[in-house]
Amino acid sequence: MFRSYQGNDNNIAKLEIKEPSGGKTGGFFIFTAVMIYSFAFKIHIVISTITLLAGIATIAMSVQGLISKREYGRGDSGISIAFNVALYFQLILGSLIYYLLRTSLEGPMWEVPDTQNDASLRFWAIEHIALMIFALFLTQLGRAFIKKSKGTFRKFRASLFYFGASLLLILFSMTMALTR
Ligand code: HEM
Repeated sequence: MFRSYQGNDNNIAKLEIKEPSGGKTGGFFIFTAVMIYSFAFKIHIVISTITLLAGIATIAMSVQGLISKREYGRGDSGISIAFNVALYFQLILGSLIYYLLRTSLEGPMWEVPDTQNDASLRFWAIEHIALMIFALFLTQLGRAFIKKSKGTFRKFRASLFYFGASLLLILFSMTMALTR
């Protein structure tokens, strides 16, 4: 029913399902937590697409701005903010999924996974989260540099450098996920 139940090798939630414990109250709590987990995960995937599109648009506009030597405008700023904000949403959602929902289900619903010794579990728990937080940090840095930079050329250059590096990190992480 849920992706976590499918034992997919690529999956952080390669989990051994247990019989729910704790009677009716426990069962209801676990059911609710699993529903929220599943919903939050779907939203995470949807926002991933938005993040990627906003990142690609930011880079395309920066390159086009540099080539055409036009002014750095509100549209450029807006799309880069969308990229930055989408990453913040991902951070909140990802943290909710990992630290609140998964942790609350470990024990009552499934066995505590051996994250340290399992490469695919470790990927989602450590590498994915660390790379994405760094990508977010780069976008935040990019926004600060764009604000500080004087002149259109410098703004577009900062945008291309920081948002480009951030997008590359995200794509790298996604490629790692697909090739595992
Ligand atoms: C910024 C902080 C982020 C955090 C803390 C985070 C956290 C997580 C966690 C914990 C999972 C595993 C969920 C599970 O299987 O239980 C996950 C999965 C996933 N994340 Fe993120 N994430 C972040 C950003 C992103 C971004 C920016 C993207 C893409 C643009 C992304 C794409 C994905 C995808 C596609 C999966 C699903 C992998 C699968 O199907 O097994 N995440 N994320």
